[in-house]
This record gives sequence, C-alpha cells and structure tokens, in this order.
Amino acid sequence: MTKILFVCLGNICRSPMAEFVMRDMIEKSGLSGEFHIASAGTSNEEYGNPVYPPARRKLLEHGIDPAGKTARQLQRGDYQEYDLLIAMEQSNLRSMERLFGGDPEGKLHRLLDYTGRPGDVADPWYTRDFEAAWRDISEGCRGLLESITKN
Ligand code: 4NP
Repeated sequence: MTKILFVCLGNICRSPMAEFVMRDMIEKSGLSGEFHIASAGTSNEEYGNPVYPPARRKLLEHGIDPAGKTARQLQRGDYQEYDLLIAMEQSNLRSMERLFGGDPEGKLHRLLDYTGRPGDVADPWYTRDFEAAWRDISEGCRGLLESITKN
C-alpha cells in the first residue's frame, strides 16, 4: 500500500484536483487496492470548505466528482502517515519542511518534477485558468503514477 498526500495552500483547488485525478487514474489502471490518496492544505484558511466550484466544474467536465471532500490542514503527523507528500508549488515544499523539521526520509516532492517540465502547478486562484491547472495536474499525476509503478 502506497499512501500519497497532495498538498497546496488552501486545499480547495489544486491539491483536491490532484487527489481526485490521481484516484481516477489509479482506478482506471485497476490499482485501487494498492493506494491510499488524500490531500491537505498548509493553511487553515479554508478548513471545512468543499472543493472550490470552478475546480469542481473542471473535474466534472472529465467525469470526476469530488463530492464529499472538505478542506483540512496539514498536520505534523502526516509525515509519518504518508509515503509521499506531493506539493503543488515550491512554497508548499518550504512550508512542509518547516512543519516537519526537514525531510529526513526524502518523502517531499513537487508534482511537476515528475514531468519533462519541472516547476509549479499554475495557481488558478490567481489566474482563474482552471484548464491550465487541469493540464498541469493531470500530466503531473501521470508522471507520478509512472514513477511509482515502474519501481
Ligand atoms: P489552493 O487555492 O491552494 O489551490 O486550494 C487557494 C485557495 C485559497 C487561497 C489561495 C489559494 N486563499 O488565498 O484564500
């Protein structure tokens, strides 16, 4: 069982999109029993809120419904609980390193670093471009799944 936690700032846009995209890819690959997938935010600002409506609409366009997901804040104990903690952007990596006191087990990574174009996922909160976020996230999740399953 591989446990993966996707992490962004608010846990209402990027990391829940990644959580539901990854779960969908895993289900379609027939690997559901081998993974536990979740998401959290480094901030507590959006605690308890559902997936942001434009992000939810983008997922629904692709037949993915994130119903039931509500935002939660990243906890110190998540470092031991998960095998991989996948940041949407560099600032999420820095926040995680501060909270966890570093990354002694090498569990922290950035999603697009699993693709041929390493960098930050486009932040739709500011750009309003949920299609760009969808493209980044689905490409990143494909790369992440390939990286895990080839080992
Ligand atoms: P997320 O998007 O980190 O992808 O969930 C954001 C949500 C809320 C805020 C920023 C980004 N905010 O500033 O409240």
